[in-house]
This record gives sequence, structure tokens and C-alpha cells, in this order.
Amino acid sequence: MQSSAGTEPDKRAYLDVVGVGKAFKGTTVMSDMDFRVARGELVSLLGPSGCGKTTLLRIIAGLTSADAGDILLDGRAITRVPAHRRNISVVFQSYALFPHLTVAENVAFGLRARHVPKGDIAPKVSEALQLVRMSDFADRPVAALSGGQQQRVAVARVLVVDPVLLLLDEPFSALDRKLRETMQVELKSLLRDRNMTAIFVTHDQEEAMGVSDRIAVMNAGRIEQFATPSELYARPQSAFVMDFVGLSTRMRGRVKQVEGDVMQIDTASGMVRAPGALGIGTDVTIGIRPELIQQGAGENTITVTLADAMVLGAKTQLHGVSHAAEDRLLCEVPGIQTGMDRGQDVSFGWSVKDTLVYEAAH
Ligand SMILES: Nc1ncnc2c1ncn2[C@@H]1O[C@H](COP(=O)(O)OP(=O)(O)OP(=O)(O)O)[C@@H](O)[C@H]1O
Ligand SMILES: [Mg+2]
Repeated sequence: MQSSAGTEPDKRAYLDVVGVGKAFKGTTVMSDMDFRVARGELVSLLGPSGCGKTTLLRIIAGLTSADAGDILLDGRAITRVPAHRRNISVVFQSYALFPHLTVAENVAFGLRARHVPKGDIAPKVSEALQLVRMSDFADRPVAALSGGQQQRVAVARVLVVDPVLLLLDEPFSALDRKLRETMQVELKSLLRDRNMTAIFVTHDQEEAMGVSDRIAVMNAGRIEQFATPSELYARPQSAFVMDFVGLSTRMRGRVKQVEGDVMQIDTASGMVRAPGALGIGTDVTIGIRPELIQQGAGENTITVTLADAMVLGAKTQLHGVSHAAEDRLLCEVPGIQTGMDRGQDVSFGWSVKDTLVYEAAH
């Protein structure tokens, strides 16, 4: 499902993937893929292992041929242009550096191949190495680097050639959390400064949210939703997207009554009201974001026994188990909450409008 028209950027598509399909040995892994990216946009592909993220990048780069569909870049069909003539740079999950060359030589390699004047090479290389914090390692052979350091060299090597499109397949997976966050911030500002268009593959929803203008959530070779991080979080279009983007409480229920645009849903833990008008008797999955649940009664209220209160620094997470059933409800409150005891009964309340509802998959 594509995002609604209102969320499409107002710019003409720079990259336009139209109706792309791909099968490997008779097994379809992608069909009718449509995917449009505006110039200068930073987009993430987010999805579970095997959903087709790398395949889509490889098709865009020209390294894998699509069985159907077209790829347009800046209005020009590039479907039949060979990979080496697309000037699309890719950093792969398993990046291939030249082990016998130094860090600086690896980064300079693409510039030499493009016959960039000698005098321009050194400053470009040093700028790229600075970005990835590898300046001190310029003269080391890459074979003598850690995995994370090699990953940073791989990023420097593709940035330096000013590609028309940058594709990054989990470029920071080998970095520790702190360095990863630093690299995300710096890469984002560098791409912005150069108005570079980039597609960034990740498993990590926080990384996707931090880096991108828009996120395409993929599932089994399809895009389930393509929207801004805030829209994805607030209005996930499916239970899959809701689960993939942030934590939530999940309950099962059945629509009992519909009054105008509010449904009454029977759950094992009690009646829940939610926006929408699905047919009476429809089996549904209900979701509520933890920070939208408060302690105390609300438009919807469920009494729970506190199973845990976890202080996570800036917030406290309350895990409750409903009385009537074994539904687990998650409530996040700002700050450090003390005096919350396991086994204590509390009410969790939330608004009708904050209740997400999806037809249950059968
Ligand atoms: N060369 C190939 N031959 C056969 N099947 C392939 C090939 N490449 C990918 N596949 C299959 O296509 C599907 C999509 O794979 P892909 O590598 O695109 O997933 P991914 O989303 O990048 O996963 P991960 O997050 O694990 O990297 C998988 O089922 C995979 O097994
Ligand atoms: Mg992959």
C-alpha cells in the first residue's frame, strides 16, 4: 500500500521505480514494486530479514536485473544502462575493500578511476576520511582495521565520488551504538549539505527514524507504508507497521457495535472504544502506543496488576497485566516514577482517538 496522496513530496520524482518484479529460480520475491524518491530526499527501507531490501537496492544500482518494470532516474529510463555507467554508489552489507591498499588509497580509488585531476584527489580524500573519523588511519592497510573501521572506510569511499544516488545497505551495522549515532548525524548533515539523494537500508527503526525524511516499511517484497517517521509512528496503516515502528500494547477483540465513527470492541480485558466503522463481528487487533496510556481512568480504562516498573532514565515503563485476561499493557510515563510496587493494582487509561485498530489477519 502506498501512502496517501497528501504525504507524497510535492517534487517530481528523481528516482522512480515502476512496477518492478523479481523472481529467483521461480520464487517471486518482489512484484509490482512502485517506489518514488524526490531529489535530495533521504529515504530508509525498513523491514525484516529477507523482505527484499538488498534486492531492491541491487536492482536500482543495476547489479541485479529486474524481470519486469522500469527504473527512471531524473526522468530518464536507466533500466538497460549497465551498473558502471549509472554513477550510483552502493555500500553493501559486505563491503569489498582492497585489502592490500591503504585506507587513503581505497578512498581515492574511485576518483582515480574517474580521472579526477591529481591535485583534487588528496583534499577530497581527507574530507571524506574526516567525516568517518578515520583521518588518523589514512596510511594503514585496510586489512589491519577492525570491522567497524572498514565499514567507515567503505562509506568514505562512496561519498567521495559524488554519486547521483547513494545506496547504503546497513552501513553502520558493525559500529557500536555511540559511534553509530555520531555517524548517523554527520552523514545526514553531509548528505543534506550536498543535496544528495540517498536510500538507506536498516533493520533498526530508531536509525530509520533518525536519518530519514521518509521510511518505506517493507514486508515480503512489498512496501506496506511509505511515509514520514512521525506519520508512520502515529498512523501505522497495518499491524505489521505498528509492530515494526515502535513499541505498542496489542490486544485482540471483536467489533460489537458501531455508533457513527466510533466502534465498541469486545476484548477479553473489557470493552474498548476506538475510531472507525468496521462491520459488526469483525475480528480486530488493537494497538496503543505506550506514551499515550496514562495512569488513571480515561475514555478507555483497563485495570491491571503491575508486573514491573522499569526506570529507563528519562522515562519509566510500567508493565501491567489485565485482570480479566492475560493481556499485557505497556504504559510509559516521563521521568523517574518511584513507589510503584509489583503486584499493585493500577488503572491504565487512554483516549478513543489514540486507539489503533486493524482487521485481524486470518
Ligand atoms: N541470488 C539469489 N538467489 C536466490 N534467492 C535470492 C537471491 N538473492 C536474494 N534471494 C532471496 O530473495 C529474498 C529477498 O532477499 P534480500 O537479500 O533482498 O533480503 P533483505 O531484505 O536484504 O534481507 P536482510 O535484512 O537479511 O539483508 C530472500 O528470500 C532471499 O533468500
Ligand atoms: Mg539485505
